[in-house]
Amino acid sequence: MTTRANPPGRSASRTAQAQPWRLDCHVAAGDDAASADELRRGLTAARPWIPARWFYDDAGCELFVRITGLDEYYQTRTEQALLDDHMGALVRAYGTTELVEIGSGAARKTRAILDAMEGAGTLRRFIPFDISPGAIAASAADIAAAYPGVRVHGVAGDFSRHLSRIPRRPADGRRMVAFLGGTIGNLDPPRRRTMMRRLARLLRPGDCLLMGTDLAHDPDVLVRAYDDAQGVTTAFNRNIIRHINHAYAGDADPEHFAHVARWNARASRIEMHLRARRDIEWNIAGLGIVVPIEAGATIRTEISCKFTPDSARAMYEDAGLSLAAWHEDPLGRYALSVAAAG
Ligand code: SAH
Ligand code: AVI
Repeated sequence: MTTRANPPGRSASRTAQAQPWRLDCHVAAGDDAASADELRRGLTAARPWIPARWFYDDAGCELFVRITGLDEYYQTRTEQALLDDHMGALVRAYGTTELVEIGSGAARKTRAILDAMEGAGTLRRFIPFDISPGAIAASAADIAAAYPGVRVHGVAGDFSRHLSRIPRRPADGRRMVAFLGGTIGNLDPPRRRTMMRRLARLLRPGDCLLMGTDLAHDPDVLVRAYDDAQGVTTAFNRNIIRHINHAYAGDADPEHFAHVARWNARASRIEMHLRARRDIEWNIAGLGIVVPIEAGATIRTEISCKFTPDSARAMYEDAGLSLAAWHEDPLGRYALSVAAAG
């Protein structure tokens, strides 16, 4: 693990007013045997796939931020509106003193929660957790500067492996764990079940889990959200090839893949794939593999599962949590829900 606090290189005007913040780092590009094994297994499977975490190098995080501003990608603005409407009451009801945010990314929507905690006079600590150390460092510094008195303790790790590295919960406070953006939908049902149980272990009676879930609705609207007119999602999808090339000395040209987004009604999920536009031999020296991909064949890069109130309730109950609040937007496309521990 490496720890950083207010690293040099940030501008004096930002750090001068900032409260101390720290970052514990449990991930390092290219030298992690477990994630290399998982990637090797995915790429050599009969139906090849890539874990979605490979989207999120610095360039991928920036592309995702651009996606969140697209007209077609209704999810972010819808969730923001739900947070703006409901966080004040939720934070008061739970007496939240610390926020742990899983997959925090640029932590923009987070501010609606922190504002509510500050307004209630209960804001003590913010713990952003993400696979991207760069995203945490940038957001931690900004948030420490914007909320005087808050302690920011970032943790860079894989949420499938490192949730146990999150700092211990204070004995005299109330914790809210937030998992926003619909990111829970990027996990297949077995991984989702494991993840939910691990999230539940971060909570004690009186704490709560705040989650954003994208809902199953009009397939045309859903597909457009993952295949925008400007091609930002195409660039995001292709960036996964660039990231793997960089981490493991691979040689595929991202432009040799076409972006595909499709609705899988049976599994209630959007799937993103990369389809080879020609025969490709992807030599990935650092993984010790050559991946042959015939023209027209696809690699699955993402699933994004869409929920119903019933499927969300069942997911909470399976993890020993109970659904305490459910807020949907007027078009029934997205939900913000709260589950209580204990
Ligand atoms: N919460 C933000 C960002 C969502 S994008 C929002 O709602 O807009 C998904 C975030 O999860 C990215 O920041 C990405 O870096 C992070 N992420 C993806 N896979 C991860 C993993 N396996 N472990 C930890 N973080 C992960
Ligand atoms: C982060 N995650 C919830 C996004 C989603 O909608 O599944 C990632 C994304 N992929 C393409 N566009 C956005």
